Amino acid sequence: SKIGVLGVPFNKGQPKLGVAKGPKVIRDAGLIQKLSEIHELVDVKDYGDVSYNINEVKEILNMKEYPHFASCNLEVSRNVEKIVKDGRICLTLGGDHSIAVGTVDGHIKAKTENICILWIDAHADLNTNKTSSSGNVHGMPMALLARELSDYWPYLPGMDWQKPVISIRNVAYIGLRSVDSYERLVIDRLGITAFGMEDVENYGINTVVKMALDRIDPEGRRSIHVSYDIDSLDSLEAPSTGTSVRGGLTLREGIHIMETIHKTGRLGAMDLVEVNPSIGSEKDVNRTVEAAVHVILAAFGHSRRGLLPKTSLPL
Ligand code: ARG
Ligand code: MN
Ligand code: MN
Ligand code: MN
Repeated sequence: SKIGVLGVPFNKGQPKLGVAKGPKVIRDAGLIQKLSEIHELVDVKDYGDVSYNINEVKEILNMKEYPHFASCNLEVSRNVEKIVKDGRICLTLGGDHSIAVGTVDGHIKAKTENICILWIDAHADLNTNKTSSSGNVHGMPMALLARELSDYWPYLPGMDWQKPVISIRNVAYIGLRSVDSYERLVIDRLGITAFGMEDVENYGINTVVKMALDRIDPEGRRSIHVSYDIDSLDSLEAPSTGTSVRGGLTLREGIHIMETIHKTGRLGAMDLVEVNPSIGSEKDVNRTVEAAVHVILAAFGHSRRGLLPKTSLPL
């Protein structure tokens, strides 16, 4: 398979600056090399990091750093669209989760709207500027992407390029355990497929992923977008992240999700966001980055059973 890696060192969707170093620490852990070693047919191209010029659009109430958010995501969308049109699965390294507005938009444009989203996260990221108590835009991307929520937003200057065309019926959450009350209301009212940690306990991760895919892509014909927030994993597995919540997925469950997605053969794009190497000790950072790399490798076909050698035994 062909992979295109894109870094988005963006940190303005939340207040902790270190998340901009996510792409660097994940690459420095040898990601590109490790991806290319999965299988001889894996072809990886690193497209480098996104940069953007700030468009001087007006500020929006309770959306912190809105002009940066709007400007960066336009570039993210353009880059992801190009990478997917190049015939590659686009792997985007964040950055905070607000960049998923651009990654999903680019994927939608490249695949002419035929996508579904698996949002792996402790949080629902479903606030609007009216319901958010933090004003942090990384808590809002899913609300910007969903067609059913477009009427709840004011006019957003500088975001006209963004298409809120994905139906919430084609979105599923896994890993939820910190959901704000208005987010809960929206999930209930719209009947969003949302598997929280108690569902992982009740059914097991294998059944949860299968049920999620069955709901968002019943015919198995859509390009799958996985937006993977590292804080979906338990704080013990991924301590170096800005809004960690205890009681989360084990690394094994996190890997299992991506192994299952890989087996569908329909992964179109994946985001790995919210790794912040300025949080915690060196050991915490290494642990978090290692977890991120394991989850990514699983998405692209790394097998825990081992892979057969490329050549016959030299015996
Ligand atoms: N719900 C909270 C908020 O809206 C936290 C969001 C955390 N999001 C994230 N991508 N880590 O501020
Ligand atoms: Mn989160
Ligand atoms: Mn998130
Ligand atoms: Mn390892």
